[in-house]
Amino acid sequence: QERTLILLKPDAVKRQLRGEIIRRIEQKGYTILALDQRTASHEELTAHYAEHEGKPFFPPMLEFMSSGPLVALVVAGDECIAGMRSLMGATQPTQAAPGTIRGDLGRAWDKPVIENLIHGSDSPESAAREIGIWFPSLAA
Ligand code: GTP
Ligand code: MG
Repeated sequence: QERTLILLKPDAVKRQLRGEIIRRIEQKGYTILALDQRTASHEELTAHYAEHEGKPFFPPMLEFMSSGPLVALVVAGDECIAGMRSLMGATQPTQAAPGTIRGDLGRAWDKPVIENLIHGSDSPESAAREIGIWFPSLAA
């Protein structure tokens, strides 16, 4: 079965939305293989978001993503990478469709980085790389 790496970002934890988001993942029928709450280091986050290094929102993104605990999960299920992306909705919560996690629970805030509650790997290559960063013991 396919696997994907999900992060419940610090805004989701602060807003007490962990249960609501995990409920949606479980109701979709995916399996949670691993789950860990931790405060991420800048090193982990720089590895995770390597593709965005150098962009204007990169420093505020590191600050936001290390501002409090996040929850990292490995989720499994057939085609769960694409399935989780559609469950999450668009990157900008104001553009995410109602019914999605970001569309129902997210909104715009006056912040230098978009706070959008959840991350999900965007390809099989990203999923393998990101599982290696957050859960080295589960790396293929
Ligand atoms: P992730 O699942 O977190 O990777 O989000 P995504 O795949 O929907 O978006 P992407 O990988 O393009 O961007 C990663 C994160 O950077 C987003 O979740 C936002 O928090 C932030 N971000 C992306 N694009 C912008 C932007 O144009 N402006 C700002 N301020 N933040 C952005
Ligand atoms: Mg992304």
